[in-house]
Amino acid sequence: MTTATDTYESVSALVRRETSMIYDAGKEYLVEARLRPLAAAAGCTVDEYVKRLPIDPVERRKAMDALTINETSWFRDHAPYQVFSDVLLPRLLEARAATRHLRIWSAACSSGQEAYSLAMLLDQHLPAGWTHEIVATDVSTAMLERVRNARYSAVEVNRGLPATALVRYFARAGNEWEIVPRLREHVSTRHLNLAAPYDGLGSFDLIMLRNVLIYFDQETKHDILRRMRPMVAPHGYLMLGSSETTLDLPPDLAAQWRREQEGRVQVHRPATGALT
Ligand SMILES: C[S@@+](CC[C@H](N)C(=O)[O-])C[C@H]1O[C@@H](n2cnc3c(N)ncnc32)[C@H](O)[C@@H]1O
Repeated sequence: MTTATDTYESVSALVRRETSMIYDAGKEYLVEARLRPLAAAAGCTVDEYVKRLPIDPVERRKAMDALTINETSWFRDHAPYQVFSDVLLPRLLEARAATRHLRIWSAACSSGQEAYSLAMLLDQHLPAGWTHEIVATDVSTAMLERVRNARYSAVEVNRGLPATALVRYFARAGNEWEIVPRLREHVSTRHLNLAAPYDGLGSFDLIMLRNVLIYFDQETKHDILRRMRPMVAPHGYLMLGSSETTLDLPPDLAAQWRREQEGRVQVHRPATGALT
């Protein structure tokens, strides 16, 4: 059985309203697969469940958590993390020599692999006497809970994590693996919808905004990049996913960002003199 068209349309409108993610036509099977367990737990059909969502904030939260796409892995795409350690970090250490403190934002953190991958690199490369914090945000409360729990299955630790990192940064917890406290203490979580205001987060030396802009329409993407610009410190960096680009920005927004190529990886910096 697949979800009726009007049910699918009301789910995709709801997802769009709550997260700005676009569920194109043709993903009925995905909606059905993700909502069926929630509908079964609530003792109703998927169609009945969807009708409840506008008036039931608890089920709506669960449904949004189930419908966000949380695909991630350790050191995803490898090259951006190599560029971070070899190129960006030495520059950031120079720029931040006075405060010896770095701030990093994992802006759609999913289950935390991105934030903890960075924490591992900082553990290895940050000189003694430096401090750092990594703020991990996501629209999915279930994902944030996973970041706080910092526990990963055997399948998950097999996705991109070098064996040496498993030994060094994880402890066995039953069938799972748990990140050690010395990495966890640097990672804080916060619920944040990228399409809504970002109050009180401060500015960052590095923002990872990876593999999330692809789910938004162009207007939302541009709005996010416009509002994120003042949150990158003048010497700081923004990193997008490898299939994401700023080539389609309108001229006024394009003028606010400077694209730089570091080997195979494109990084973005605030353009000097651009209005914030
Ligand atoms: C595909 S994952 C990417 C995770 C990680 N950045 C990476 O590159 O591996 C996309 C994440 O974006 C989150 N997301 C979707 N819409 C969002 C929004 N409006 N605000 C914040 N996070 C959002 C999803 O919950 C999901 O965890």
